Amino acid sequence: MKVIITEDYEEMSRKAFEIMVETVKNKPDAVLGLATGTTPLGLYGKMTEDFKANGTSYKNIKTVNLDEYIGLDGSDKNSYASFMRENLFNGLDVDLKNTYIENGSAPDAEKECERYNEVLRGLQQDIQLLGLGSNGHIAFNEPFTPFGTEVHVVKLAESTIRDNARLFDNIKDVPVKAYTMGPKNIMRAKKILVLASGANKADAVYGAVKGEITESLPASILQLHPDCILIADKEAAARL
Ligand code: GLP
Repeated sequence: MKVIITEDYEEMSRKAFEIMVETVKNKPDAVLGLATGTTPLGLYGKMTEDFKANGTSYKNIKTVNLDEYIGLDGSDKNSYASFMRENLFNGLDVDLKNTYIENGSAPDAEKECERYNEVLRGLQQDIQLLGLGSNGHIAFNEPFTPFGTEVHVVKLAESTIRDNARLFDNIKDVPVKAYTMGPKNIMRAKKILVLASGANKADAVYGAVKGEITESLPASILQLHPDCILIADKEAAARL
């Protein structure tokens, strides 16, 4: 794994932007694996600014998102589908028909997992962006998810519900279940770009880079990927 340590969040976002935009320029019909959370917001801001200023086109780009809350329709303001439109897609010329994510209001969860696995089989990510949960989760793969798992339903860890409550009006509104790509879907990406910022990610970063490769820390699987770059600001990299 290649590790880049930056001064701050801004520099982390800029370096991530350079890698992302290079992927898009080299391959205008690339498949981008995208993530939600607050960590990639700086990167997404830079992508939309660059589109406005320089017209880098996403017309033929396809995107696959990692995860979605169960019980929230894609039109719900707290869904990850809305998050992506608001924070990225609406500011680019990407065709929304080419943006894929699990359907949080699908009537049959098992069928929805199968459907999304099928979508992913046809769309290998040229790059997969990842954030880290404070407990070392990637997407919504909580500790002890078997590494061979594909798209599945998860019951969110208490710590994840607490971490994510800040984005909701009330902690009681945070869904308790979600769909997520499994470690296996993530590891299929040609390149993985992990971002981490802030002291609360220091343990997760340590585990991802230097810890034992173990299902108790899902991000540790990334050590097995042949082309993984982790960009962490100095607070998140404090234990390296
Ligand atoms: C959620 C998402 C993850 C994300 C994590 C970290 O749990 N499912 O994909 O990496 O939050 O979020 P943040 O970037 O806000 O710290």
